[in-house]
Amino acid sequence: MDRILIRGGHPLHGDIQISGAKNAALPLMVACLLTDEPLHLSNIPHLVDTAQMATLLAQLGVDISMTGSGEEEAAAGRMITLSVRDIRRTTAPYDIVRKMRASFLVTGPLLARCGKARVSLPGGCAIGARPVDLHLHAFEALGAQITLEDGYVLAEAPRGLKGGRIAFPFVSVGATENALMAAVLADGETVIENAAREPEIGDLIKCLMAMGAHIEGAGTSILRVQGRDRLHGATHAVLPDRIETGTYAMAPAVAGGRLTLRRTDPQLIGALIPVLEAVGVSVELGDGEVTVSSDGHPLRAVDIQTEPYPGFPTDLQAQLMALLATAQGKSHIRETIFENRFMHVPELIRMGADVTVDGDKAVITGVKRLKGAPVMATDLRASMCLVLAGLGAEGETVVNRVYHLDRGFERIEEKLGQCGAEIVRVRGDVAR
Ligand code: UD1
Repeated sequence: MDRILIRGGHPLHGDIQISGAKNAALPLMVACLLTDEPLHLSNIPHLVDTAQMATLLAQLGVDISMTGSGEEEAAAGRMITLSVRDIRRTTAPYDIVRKMRASFLVTGPLLARCGKARVSLPGGCAIGARPVDLHLHAFEALGAQITLEDGYVLAEAPRGLKGGRIAFPFVSVGATENALMAAVLADGETVIENAAREPEIGDLIKCLMAMGAHIEGAGTSILRVQGRDRLHGATHAVLPDRIETGTYAMAPAVAGGRLTLRRTDPQLIGALIPVLEAVGVSVELGDGEVTVSSDGHPLRAVDIQTEPYPGFPTDLQAQLMALLATAQGKSHIRETIFENRFMHVPELIRMGADVTVDGDKAVITGVKRLKGAPVMATDLRASMCLVLAGLGAEGETVVNRVYHLDRGFERIEEKLGQCGAEIVRVRGDVAR
């Protein structure tokens, strides 16, 4: 299994091009199931998760062609064309769904277009129970019948879906996406209350509207969908990855230096910018770019809690903890989205961090410097926390189980390496 080896203590200087957002690309790829015409998506990040989604869609009968394998095109993101004249299968098997929870998003479109879907209950990151009850509640509100059998969800609407009122008891990104993709082909009006407002939902709405869907309320928590008989093909560019942007924006705070993040949108990290300023790094906003620089002074402690967008994202919580590990004073983090998302803490402690966890709260007492150590990544964002910690630590850090990173961060060794970090990938079959 691959590992990432980092020798910490090198300040970072240079530019990083931000990739297309993984969490937008996955639902957008799924949206091709809603039409028999081609969907062209550009700025698709080259990741294990997008490849995994392509494999699942191919099994359902989607033809996928890809351009942009050259170096320049790779930097600009890939363009893929997905087309599915006839859906061959309506089953999404355990083998694929267990590896990636976002596979569950095929349920809404399959149900809407074919009147049935049989989808394995998902797995994904080990960051809590992560049930799918809200997704199922949405399908039921549109008239589907749901049965659970042998670890699979069977959703059926033989006479088609009917528009209805979906009132989510709390915000779920995936359930909002699944509900939207079911509602766009339902008969009549659907109102989704307490919808997620994450920018990736806005991107999905933009693409669905380019495909002929009628949706009002983008960016708000109430979405009104007028169902259509059919959707058509479209061309859409995936929005920049706000989690990648936010992660690299924290890197100069941890390692020192000055980084400019390009091909992004600073508004996407609106909740992080005041936190970066509060810890004591400077942030300059430009058109499609953001520059973060550290003057080398000690960082200051801050308190945050994770919240649905536009609050502080849970997907940046682990990375922020790597930064706060060396901030002067006591910082407090409260994780309100997932119940088991502090699995990076024992690994940070092995690097010398002083962190105590009590339920959903963590107290981080800043130490002067972290020390490199062999560490193990437990999920996607936790892996990036350990990479950041390694960049600032004294000595060598080896991050094991890198496959988590490859699910969601594109070419990290290259992106950080070209800015002065000493970071290499050690292939699994090479002995050290
Ligand atoms: C998406 C993101 C993930 C991010 C998360 C929260 C993708 C591919 N993944 O995940 O990176 O961390 O949003 O911003 O976009 N829940 C239920 N029942 C449900 C659905 C969710 O109880 O039916 C709970 C979850 O366990 C969690 C909370 O709701 O505690 C929010 O989860 P949700 O917004 O659905 O996350 P995902 O869409 O899975």
